[in-house]
Amino acid sequence: MKNMSPWWIRIPIVFFLVFGLMEYFVDSGDQLAVIKYPITQFFLLLVLLILIAIEIILVAIENVMLQTLSEEAKARYLAKKTEEGNFGWAKGIIEKLTRSKAIEEEGEIILDHNYDGIRELDNRLPPWWVYLFYATIVFAVVYLVRFHIAGDYDQKTEYETEVAEARAAIEAYKKTAKDLVDANTVELLTDASDLSAGKTIYETNCIACHMADGGGGIGPNLTDPNWILGGGIKNVFNTISEGGRDGKGMVAWKQSLKPAEIAQVASYVLSMQGTTPANPKAAEGDVWVDENAPAAEEAPATEAPEASVE
Ligand code: HEC
Repeated sequence: MKNMSPWWIRIPIVFFLVFGLMEYFVDSGDQLAVIKYPITQFFLLLVLLILIAIEIILVAIENVMLQTLSEEAKARYLAKKTEEGNFGWAKGIIEKLTRSKAIEEEGEIILDHNYDGIRELDNRLPPWWVYLFYATIVFAVVYLVRFHIAGDYDQKTEYETEVAEARAAIEAYKKTAKDLVDANTVELLTDASDLSAGKTIYETNCIACHMADGGGGIGPNLTDPNWILGGGIKNVFNTISEGGRDGKGMVAWKQSLKPAEIAQVASYVLSMQGTTPANPKAAEGDVWVDENAPAAEEAPATEAPEASVE
């Protein structure tokens, strides 16, 4: 029975160990197994009962053993036990970790040096510190081999993987939270499902003024490269969301459409660019040039005429 932790530590430790193992091995998705499969609660209860039963049996055995001891041995056993009960076990652990000498025993380790009355103790290095030090050596060797010899990965690749992972996480999040978009964050949607949803919204709300083919009527032509209020997904989103200039008839659609729907219909509107409507309204506004467009896309357009001139 030496160095045994008391029952009120043993039972919770074993219990939570079983609990943890169960959660680890039972595949229950994001939910805890105890919640997803109520039968496991019964299992845990059983574990708890068994643990308590074991403790009771241990106490009983101890009692029986005590009866067989002589009076003197009994007294010694009980004294030892109360000492352990008073956190003797914790003291034991601390002693193992520090291996320091008690003040009364310091005479054994005092050195002969004497500097004006200041004397030196030859204490052992505390094992917790020594093992930590060994661990750093092992770590350093592994690190050296892994990153300086084998060249596992460097800071740059680490950074890039993390950024890529974060981007993927943002994408995944945006898919679940489409209504978070606004005119600053919106991006052109190209999914067929988004465009067809946009088309439905357009046909329900917009064709009265812009025509089904975007040719324009009360509202301007949406198929030409000219925009009164600015082209590109962000401006178009903004126009649809906030409306056109006062008194022109284009209302702020944010009253009746959700941000995700505005993004869809804006993307659909932009997908009509360059199509030829039946009765196109004359161009209004300026030709929109996207300043943020990648240079590569613009380059051929400006170079091509030059080449043909030569
Ligand atoms: C009541 C008629 C009317 C309806 C309905 C309407 N619009 Fe408009 N729309 C206009 C007018 C008028 C303008 C021009 C506003 C201005 O000049 O400020 C306009 C402008 C626009 C512009 C900007 C064009 C440019 O050249 O900058 C876009 C984009 C647009 N509308 C999309 C839509 C969408 C999408 C819908 C449906 C959700 C819609 N409109 C419904 C009348 C309408």
